Amino acid sequence: MQVKRVGIIGFGAIGRSILSAASRAPVPGHRLTALLVRPQQLVEARALVPPGIGVTSELAELLALAPEVIVEAAGHSAVGEFAQRVLAHRTRLLMLSVGALADPELHERLERTARAAGSRVILPVGAIAGLDGLLALRQAGLQRVTYSSTKPPGAWLGTPAERDIDLLNLTGRTVIFEGSARDAARQYPKNANLAAAVALAGLGFERTRVELVADPAATGNVGRIDAESASSRLQVTVSGHSSSLNPKTSDITGMSVLSALGNEAGTIAFG
Ligand SMILES: NC(=O)c1ccc[n+]([C@@H]2O[C@H](COP(=O)([O-])OP(=O)(O)OC[C@H]3O[C@@H](n4cnc5c(N)ncnc54)[C@H](O)[C@@H]3O)[C@@H](O)[C@H]2O)c1
Repeated sequence: MQVKRVGIIGFGAIGRSILSAASRAPVPGHRLTALLVRPQQLVEARALVPPGIGVTSELAELLALAPEVIVEAAGHSAVGEFAQRVLAHRTRLLMLSVGALADPELHERLERTARAAGSRVILPVGAIAGLDGLLALRQAGLQRVTYSSTKPPGAWLGTPAERDIDLLNLTGRTVIFEGSARDAARQYPKNANLAAAVALAGLGFERTRVELVADPAATGNVGRIDAESASSRLQVTVSGHSSSLNPKTSDITGMSVLSALGNEAGTIAFG
């Protein structure tokens, strides 16, 4: 089997969880070979990553290590900064900051670049499940999709919710945002990537309804899809621990990247 080289952009909660899980149990058919970090993270990253992984803060150097797949686990601005160059370099991009595609100009530009270069943007299922079911319901004529995300109040610090709500003194479940997936992704870029993924798999950014909730009783993050077509109803809930490094991010997210890579390499794969 030809082994594919994998690069990672981002050395935060997800990037680190991918690196440590892959060093414990390598993904069949794949080898981590390159990591792009912020300049101030170079020393720490070089000390921590296993030998054989080139660490850099320059995209040109990352691309020079010739990864066949690059995992973006950095943020919306990193997508704006790097994604087009990755795709133009004929490299597949597994992109976690899905909400960046709520910007129609960027969305169109990445699609155009990938088509011209023969590369692809893959959106891993991330911290939710059920995007496959949503795609199937879409074929059957989706009528309604709602995505809700419930997290402990601390996970919403640093978001617009802080302006109107005393997050750390909440006494009960509080809806902090209700609206379209496009507005959720734009206003909550670090928290609404799954709203964007649900929108792209289903009814689009305008017609996907999103509810973001802060709940002092929540012990982790809960994502829920509720969708309906003429013949079927899809209800999916995933609840799990948040990352110890970043309360906005669910622990399972990095594992979804490894499973997407493993699925690609499988002779019998899930479609
Ligand atoms: N699709 C999903 O299911 C899902 C779930 C959780 C998080 N996310 C998204 O994935 C991304 C990463 O999440 P995280 O929890 O690891 O975030 P994090 O904040 O813990 O880590 C991000 C890291 O990327 C680095 N970074 C940002 N811009 C960079 C750049 N231009 N160059 C190099 N490094 C850069 C930051 O310094 C940080 O170290 C975020 O956009 C997050 O919103 C997606």
